[in-house]
Amino acid sequence: MEFTKLGKCLSLALILVVFGAWFSEATSRTLQDAAMHGRYDQWMARYGRVYNDISEKEKRFQIFKETVAYVESSNSDVNKPYKLSVNQFADLTNEEFVASRNRFKGHECSTRITSFRYENVTVPASVDWRQKGAVTPVKDQGQCGCCWAFSAVAAMEGITQLTTGKLISLSEQELVDCDVNGEDQGCEGGLMDNAFDFINQNHGLSTEANYPYTGVDGTCNAQKEASHAASITGHEDVPANSESALLKAVAGQPISVAIDASGSDFQFYSSGVFTGTCGTSLDHGVTAVGYGVGDDGTKYWLVKNSWGAQWGEEGYIRMQRDVDAPEGLCGIAMAASYPTA
Ligand SMILES: *[C@@H]1O[C@H](CO)[C@@H](O)[C@H](O)[C@H]1NC(C)=O
Repeated sequence: MEFTKLGKCLSLALILVVFGAWFSEATSRTLQDAAMHGRYDQWMARYGRVYNDISEKEKRFQIFKETVAYVESSNSDVNKPYKLSVNQFADLTNEEFVASRNRFKGHECSTRITSFRYENVTVPASVDWRQKGAVTPVKDQGQCGCCWAFSAVAAMEGITQLTTGKLISLSEQELVDCDVNGEDQGCEGGLMDNAFDFINQNHGLSTEANYPYTGVDGTCNAQKEASHAASITGHEDVPANSESALLKAVAGQPISVAIDASGSDFQFYSSGVFTGTCGTSLDHGVTAVGYGVGDDGTKYWLVKNSWGAQWGEEGYIRMQRDVDAPEGLCGIAMAASYPTA
């Protein structure tokens, strides 16, 4: 009898303990979830994100949660010289992110050898074309895959400032709308070299103010297309797979470069010298506007991106330079080129 009572007592206690443990775990899970939802709401407010329906919001929340875990785990790795952040792309899977933005169309078509005017130059230890007034503020391509236009325009803004002394923000939208009779396809992708050819044949390019960016494919406005704020005489390709050739070129002017920007670390890059991981499947056009050496001695390329000033180091990324591969990190030395004026 006594024995049974004790047994009953014990099993009741056991049930209470088990239930208590389950309850406190469930509560802490709920609290964690509530905290994450709070963080999500803050993030939505900060980036002006609005979802049409509750199931979309829930789906995006799950991706957001995975991003937070990924970023926190990456940032806790003390061996990584760069940091990630839960930025404006935090609710996009890597596949979605790459599909909507990175549309550099490979380089299979442009293997022709052009002359290289910077072949014999000596280079300074570091260069930052922003400090020379040759770089316009960082722009934002939005969800249009016309990185190629932003890359070409930034390089053209650079050479225009170097030759005329005037820094003029030029039109990407003109390229998106009007450079459509060759291989370039607006938001569906293109090549910087083709953009330079178009600008040259068109005898110039309009200003950003005159032909502003809309972020969607539009009909070419012939009147605006005919208004030229700057012109080029052609373009040259930097000898491929040579970071030392690229160094000479960047010392001369801002350079259009193609990179493999498809990695999650690139998507969420926040600061520091980016050391990868990335491949060499070129899918994004950006602009090298300088180079230097980081605090810890790591050499880097200073690269202007077109994902707005909230991404990376105020819109820029420093990418490791002089890596142990001729293509450079993320293939940066594979398909570099520049307009001539
Ligand atoms: C570089 O130097 C070589 C050897 O002196 C010369 O043949 C070549 O034309 C020079 N290249 C340029 C672009 O000036």
